[in-house]
Amino acid sequence: MGPRRSAASSRGRLLLPLLLLGVSGFFQSYAVEVDIKDASNATCLYANWMMRFLITYESNNGDYKTTTLNLSSSATHNGSVCGNDTQAALVAVQFGEGHSWSINITKNNETYQGDFMTLTYNTNDTAVFPDAKRKGPVTIFIKDPAGPVQLNTVFVCHNSFVIEAENITQIFWNVTVQAFVQNGTVSKKETRCPADRPTSAPTVPPTSANATTAPTTAAPPAPTPPKPVENPDTGNYSLKSGNKTCFLATVGLQLNVSQDKPLLININPKTTVADGACGNTTATLKLNDGNSTLIGFTFAVKNASASVQKFYLREVNVTLLNHLNGSVISSADNNNLSKWDAFLGSSYMCRKEQTLQINENVQVHTFNLWIQPFLVEANKFATAQECSLDDDSILIPIVVGAALAVLIAIIVVAYIIGRRKSYAGYQTL
Ligand SMILES: *[C@@H]1O[C@H](CO)[C@@H](O)[C@H](O)[C@H]1NC(C)=O
Ligand SMILES: *[C@@H]1O[C@H](CO)[C@@H](O)[C@H](O)[C@H]1NC(C)=O
Ligand SMILES: *[C@@H]1O[C@H](CO)[C@@H](O)[C@H](O)[C@H]1NC(C)=O
Ligand SMILES: *[C@@H]1O[C@H](CO)[C@@H](O)[C@H](O)[C@H]1NC(C)=O
Ligand SMILES: *[C@@H]1O[C@H](CO)[C@@H](O)[C@H](O)[C@H]1NC(C)=O
Ligand SMILES: *[C@@H]1O[C@H](CO)[C@@H](O)[C@H](O)[C@H]1NC(C)=O
Ligand SMILES: *[C@@H]1O[C@H](CO)[C@@H](O)[C@H](O)[C@H]1NC(C)=O
Ligand SMILES: *[C@@H]1O[C@H](CO)[C@@H](O)[C@H](O)[C@H]1NC(C)=O
Repeated sequence: MGPRRSAASSRGRLLLPLLLLGVSGFFQSYAVEVDIKDASNATCLYANWMMRFLITYESNNGDYKTTTLNLSSSATHNGSVCGNDTQAALVAVQFGEGHSWSINITKNNETYQGDFMTLTYNTNDTAVFPDAKRKGPVTIFIKDPAGPVQLNTVFVCHNSFVIEAENITQIFWNVTVQAFVQNGTVSKKETRCPADRPTSAPTVPPTSANATTAPTTAAPPAPTPPKPVENPDTGNYSLKSGNKTCFLATVGLQLNVSQDKPLLININPKTTVADGACGNTTATLKLNDGNSTLIGFTFAVKNASASVQKFYLREVNVTLLNHLNGSVISSADNNNLSKWDAFLGSSYMCRKEQTLQINENVQVHTFNLWIQPFLVEANKFATAQECSLDDDSILIPIVVGAALAVLIAIIVVAYIIGRRKSYAGYQTL
């Protein structure tokens, strides 16, 4: 059988090209095909797709590990149903040692649309979850972020796309799906996912000549200039010890990873989970963006015996994982930093962009930083010590003030000179 195409009525955000290299074909994954017939033996639901999951779980020693769950060759599709105007269609598959996945799909007059995906993974499966602390099935529900698909068209996505939720990354590719198939025939008309569409219109550099003379009616949408990556969204992260918050961080994070050329990656706070450990002399915040990026920040207390103690950022490490199989693409660590220092019991703040150089290929840019790794009380930041960069905000009034002073001096001098002149003029009269 040739490469199978597949579909689950679900689409997600595009993967970073970096993490997507060689999406189809090279690893042994199995396609699932679900072809459900109605009472008259006509196909009413068709799906053929490939998927895998990256799942973060807690291991026996309290560390969090990310594992890859693949479909097995022996997947079954028990429980899949056609659906109709009132009942949702269901694509359900069971695979491996007690794992299952399903999506229910609803229809209205013109479209059909995935509603929820349900993943049940079984941490008793020691091949996938060695040393899982908690054993047994775990079920999560993931709202399908994809938009509706026209009825009587088949949703097709050859490229991979990712849907993230909590500690799960779902990766789909080679997807072909049509729910509510009419007349027993999967449609020839395709609805393609965003990932399969040409990335952008050909970029004709606009010249001032054609910009003003081109007939506007026929003009294609103006080519957008290569857009600098926007600043990342600011996220709030915290750690608890027992039920007490012991670490607080507010920060927007951006990675600059140089492979062939620098690539800027914004960390999405919405999909990022924090864990780590508080302590009296060291504290670590680990962020997992659910999109194959792990960043760890380790803080330490300076010369713990001194009477006035300060903390500082000692170590940052960044690990990029391959989306598709969870293997490490690159790993960078700098454990010799001495940044972000502030008195113990206070917090550190730096709103401006800052750069942490992790190694020659990896930088972490921070924005709107406010962090307190030690001695958090009542779930609130203590008084902030601000970074010197932020002193620009003080510099501006100084510059303005100095300019005003000069201006006043000039006016005073001009006034005096004017007075003298007019006095002199009066005298000569
Ligand atoms: C359904 O159709 C297939 C081929 O289209 C045929 O092989 C099969 O026997 C049919 N089954 C029933 C129950 O009619
Ligand atoms: C579907 O599940 C039921 C009950 O678990 C089982 O009896 C049946 O054999 C299964 N059918 C298939 C096709 O796996
Ligand atoms: C789809 O499945 C989810 C999870 O089981 C359920 O909450 C939801 O009501 C279902 N949607 C429909 C339309 O049946
Ligand atoms: C299904 O068959 C009916 C009757 O033959 C026809 O009117 C309708 O257009 C067909 N629908 C599709 C999607 O082919
Ligand atoms: C993050 O926390 C700050 C206060 O510390 C609050 O103003 C802001 O709304 C929070 N942002 C989010 C996304 O929760
Ligand atoms: C990204 O890193 C590269 C190499 O370290 C550097 O040349 C480039 O200026 C950086 N880009 C940004 C936007 O920081
Ligand atoms: C990153 O740092 C944390 C805390 O120091 C450590 O547990 C982890 O193993 C480090 N990861 C890498 C890839 O160096
Ligand atoms: C994961 O995929 C990458 C990219 O092709 C490959 O080089 C690597 O060997 C794979 N790792 C595993 C553990 O399958």
